[in-house]
Amino acid sequence: PPRPVRIDLKAKTLAELRAESETLEIAARRPRAPLVFADGNPDSGVMIVGEAPGAEEERQGRPFVGPAGQLLDRMLGAIGLDREQVYITNLSLWRPVGNRVPSAQEAAELLPVLHRHIALVKPRALLAVGGASAKALLETTSGIMRIRGRWQDIEADGHKVPVMPTFHPAYLLREPVQKRLAWRDLLAFSARIS
Ligand code: URA
Repeated sequence: PPRPVRIDLKAKTLAELRAESETLEIAARRPRAPLVFADGNPDSGVMIVGEAPGAEEERQGRPFVGPAGQLLDRMLGAIGLDREQVYITNLSLWRPVGNRVPSAQEAAELLPVLHRHIALVKPRALLAVGGASAKALLETTSGIMRIRGRWQDIEADGHKVPVMPTFHPAYLLREPVQKRLAWRDLLAFSARIS
């Protein structure tokens, strides 16, 4: 898998990271794209990382507010969590051109920022939704089918955290039959955080 590129980030707070993100080379490639930084409660101890904002997220400046976000809210609700009990961000802080999933190369560039983000939030558990974010965080090329449902510890910029990879809600909207497996992953996640 592509190794995370080295970026010398200075941010020591979330506000600083948000500001610093706008100055990065990856941001410069999307000159007019608004930043979609995060939503929810950074003190909740529970972090959720998606792939990239879509059109509605870009419009509102908040992650997971479109159709996939509505399903994510229902999935979280099923384990008793609302938006104030989680902190949500994405691997990409910008909507990719053409709504693509971030490429492996982009993921390598985005990962240092995500690592710093995780280190500042210090979650006690992290739910990675979708192959792109799970692969980036676990630094693997294995597909989501193979890696979902199993806790794996990562170290993000000095902060150790267990990661539960699961399916992306946009995928579950297309393949509702997979909700059974996603439900198992959510229960495992819920057991660890409660
Ligand atoms: N899909 C994602 O991965 N993230 C969002 O914020 C919205 C849709």
